[in-house]
Amino acid sequence: MKRILPAVLATVLFANPLVSQAPATDATKLYLGAAWYPEAWPESRWERDLTLMQQAGINFVRITEFAWSAMEPSEGHYDLDWVNRAIRLAEKHGIAVVLGTPSAAPPAWLTQKYPQTLWVDQNGKRAEHGNRQQFNWANPKYRELSAKMASVMAERFGHDPNVIGWQIDNEYAEVSYDPQTKKMFQDWLRTRYGTLDALNARWTTSYWSQTYSDWSQIPIETKYGNPGLLLSWKRFISDTWRSYQKNQLDVIRTKADRRQWITTNMMGWFDEYDHYTVSQDLDLASWDDYVGSGHLNAARNGAAHDLTRGFLRKNFWVMETQPGFVNWHANNNALDKGEVRAMAWHDIGHGADAVEYWQWRSALNGQEEYHGTLVGADGEPVPLYDEVARVGKEFTAASHELMGTTVKSQVAVLQSYESRWAINWQRHNRQWDPVDALVSYYQPLRAEAHSVDIVSPSAPLDSYKLVVAPAMNLLTPQQTANLMQYVEHGGHLVFGQRSVMKDEDNSLQPARQPGPFAAPLGGRVEQYYALLAPVPVEGAWGNGTSAIWAEQLSAKDDTETLMRYGKSNGWLDGQPAAITKKVGKGRITYIGAWLDENTAKKAVHWMLDTSGVKSAWPVMPEGVELSLRESNQREIAILVNLSTETKTITLPGARKDILHNGESVTSVSLPAYGVAVLGNQ
Ligand code: GLA
Repeated sequence: MKRILPAVLATVLFANPLVSQAPATDATKLYLGAAWYPEAWPESRWERDLTLMQQAGINFVRITEFAWSAMEPSEGHYDLDWVNRAIRLAEKHGIAVVLGTPSAAPPAWLTQKYPQTLWVDQNGKRAEHGNRQQFNWANPKYRELSAKMASVMAERFGHDPNVIGWQIDNEYAEVSYDPQTKKMFQDWLRTRYGTLDALNARWTTSYWSQTYSDWSQIPIETKYGNPGLLLSWKRFISDTWRSYQKNQLDVIRTKADRRQWITTNMMGWFDEYDHYTVSQDLDLASWDDYVGSGHLNAARNGAAHDLTRGFLRKNFWVMETQPGFVNWHANNNALDKGEVRAMAWHDIGHGADAVEYWQWRSALNGQEEYHGTLVGADGEPVPLYDEVARVGKEFTAASHELMGTTVKSQVAVLQSYESRWAINWQRHNRQWDPVDALVSYYQPLRAEAHSVDIVSPSAPLDSYKLVVAPAMNLLTPQQTANLMQYVEHGGHLVFGQRSVMKDEDNSLQPARQPGPFAAPLGGRVEQYYALLAPVPVEGAWGNGTSAIWAEQLSAKDDTETLMRYGKSNGWLDGQPAAITKKVGKGRITYIGAWLDENTAKKAVHWMLDTSGVKSAWPVMPEGVELSLRESNQREIAILVNLSTETKTITLPGARKDILHNGESVTSVSLPAYGVAVLGNQ
């Protein structure tokens, strides 16, 4: 049926330039970039830097995200001419610019004149100058000053043809515990709960005489407080980062062309704020992808990419990554020769449209002198430069094929910050890590299905054949309804350990797990046990173990028991460990065991099979990662060999080898860190 737009809505949609000129966030090519700090160097040097970048195929730089003191040397006196000269010179070299607003590094004159803009730690100590991120994210004066700086930048560069986008601030992290922020938190609570009676009831404050009779009595707690209070403080932090960001974002939106997108650089598994809350005003999600020590862990790192792709449910940017090594780990080993290139393609495979190296060249002084770079202290290429230049050539060769493609998944894994926080505050077994739990499902799922989305339990789910919720400890009523509806519409919902235990205030549900899902499932968690040692499990997925944690399940007659515990603590012996039931057109499964790797593979195989998830591609040999990006017309396969041995892969049909002049291949042989990018014939 053709839907007719109501006249009022039509007027709004077509008259509002913000709607009719949607920002061009979908990249027009693959971007390769470097973080460049022209303010640290004489201008006579810039030409050489940009020439070397251009020769390496670098086609964008991110600048100015720490350059406040160079752009506003004293209050109200702006100098953006040098920024303009840097943008123009970059343009001459075919290098686009992403501008960072500099609020992560306020100038010394500012913090001296307005000390209230500095954050205060939990012991009441105010930050000092000399580092970065010393600002208070809630402080109104800081917001006024940082919006003014963003406004001056947007006025000058909002229509600049060589500026493609904006990064607000840099890696949001520090929060403040000053009295004014505490008062803001109390006001936030008043808005959320309305009355103290409601708050007291929902937090069960009668426990330990916590009952509040005045809003001003409510403390900030971060570790040992009431679970409702802990969760509220995190929600307040998230909302405050969102409004901090919006304060600058709105100013840029009003002044800049809509083709200039706005992002901020997030940090993978970092969980100090709810990334779904903070992402929603952005055009593009991006993150800083650092291995730190060791080597690329394809599953954990790949899941972090997919997590970032899930913030706005579309392609994203890797806004920073290490050129070989970092400087902040206990052992800052370099990635092996070839691994940086392999990592760049692994990023693209997971839906990144850009990879940027941090940084181009180390400042001669400053805290990060030892960090990996693309040119040395002498300004000339380091050994890694050639490898990045190869990536540059390859991105150019593959760009056309990859544009308009994205990762399409039949499987989603659910992730929620609220559930992670709720578990982390009360792990019960210190080894129980929510990210490890997620990866324990993600890894075998991706190995077999080749594409997995990681999304919030609030996201639309109907397009997935299988939704796996490894640790959905806390669900809001809206999220519960979303999951119920998914099952009603024919989806297969799999819960992992510790699921559906808490309500939206982090209180225990007055029901056994999985709360409202127990009735349709025809089974529930009778008791949970932290384990000292793994316990045996056996059944449809073979013989294996459950480590760290085990949940004793029960099942009604028409609910199928898939796995049972073997002999262990007596309580668990012979009891159900995994159960499933068809519910209408859909299905609910609950897995109470933390399965060993082998058993998890079989469990995942069963889940995919039962849900009708199929892939034309086989499971790859150990160490080889296959990623698929698709559009309506194309499927691009990206194969990366992260092992140290050569691996040969027989393809499901003839493919075009994009990095080798499009020659037709039916199998590929990948040396250690080898990469193949294959398109349809
Ligand atoms: C972070 C920051 C950068 C830089 C790198 C070093 O990601 O955003 O400014 O400090 O770490 O690895």
